[in-house]
Amino acid sequence: MTQHPILVTGGTGKVGRRAVALLRDSGVPVRVGSRSATPAFDWSDPTTWDTALAGVRRVLLVPHDGEMLTRPFVRRAEELGVERVVLLSGRGVDVPGYMRENGAAGLTHIDGEDAVRSCGLEWTIVRPGWFAQNFSEGFFRDAVLAGELRLPAGDGAASFVDAEDIAAVAVAALTEDGHAGQTYELSGPTAVTIAEVAALIAKATGRAVRYVPLSVEEFVAELVAQGWPKADADDYADVIGPIRRGMDSHLSDGVVRALGRPPRDFAQFVAEAAAAGAWQD
Ligand SMILES: NC(=O)c1ccc[n+]([C@@H]2O[C@H](COP(=O)([O-])OP(=O)(O)OC[C@H]3O[C@@H](n4cnc5c(N)ncnc54)[C@H](OP(=O)(O)O)[C@@H]3O)[C@@H](O)[C@H]2O)c1
Repeated sequence: MTQHPILVTGGTGKVGRRAVALLRDSGVPVRVGSRSATPAFDWSDPTTWDTALAGVRRVLLVPHDGEMLTRPFVRRAEELGVERVVLLSGRGVDVPGYMRENGAAGLTHIDGEDAVRSCGLEWTIVRPGWFAQNFSEGFFRDAVLAGELRLPAGDGAASFVDAEDIAAVAVAALTEDGHAGQTYELSGPTAVTIAEVAALIAKATGRAVRYVPLSVEEFVAELVAQGWPKADADDYADVIGPIRRGMDSHLSDGVVRALGRPPRDFAQFVAEAAAAGAWQD
């Protein structure tokens, strides 16, 4: 296909790392874009962008939440000869009332999607819902280890999607024809409540894990008491809100559309993560 390296920004993160592995397994040259890569790529330092983009024709763009950098980055990529961009976005960007309009990640994705759609590159947008891996390597892992998922999620369910599937869809869009102009909404095959998540992880690991439903006010107060800035605590509560309001339980067909196979099941993710030691102290 190409001997030009594919740039993966966020290439050490939950999705990017898996995309890098899939590309390397297929023999595709890859360049990791992150602060810990060599050479380092830092969203906050545009003088590092050209080196990351040199000789690149295709990019998996995992954006920098809270900043409006996707647009200038895509513009620079186009100037330097990039031909195709696959953008990692997020569920709900086009759904009124999904999140507060001034939420940090939401604004990044709204502007990023517009930038990608209006640029001159071939583009594909990947819009996942909640990642299953938030519980094993993301911001819920510490709570799992502490034995209590204390969240303002009510009785809401979410159709958690496996980051392996997100990466596989992104890699298909990077390396195959037929994905240009597509927006792939991704979810897992079922929706589970946070109480069900806790029970599944408890059963698979033998750990005591339970869900403690909090009000938004209780949740924000707990985070502020732990030293969080109030604005960040509000943002965190805001991203949980769609689960509580029943806006994250629907299923999306992007994995089947892009890959021709069903998405991986949440229970399968839990079993494999437990077997890999994801919840060992
Ligand atoms: N988590 C979810 O449930 C969810 C759901 C839908 C959409 N999303 C979206 O998915 C994206 C996050 O993807 P992810 O979970 O795979 O990422 P992640 O695991 O949080 O990893 C973040 C990546 O960004 C890199 N990074 C952080 N700061 C950087 C900087 N200043 N310059 C360059 N690189 C930087 C990190 O590498 P270094 O630290 O080495 O720099 C790392 O590779 C976000 O845009 C989020 O809104 C997440």
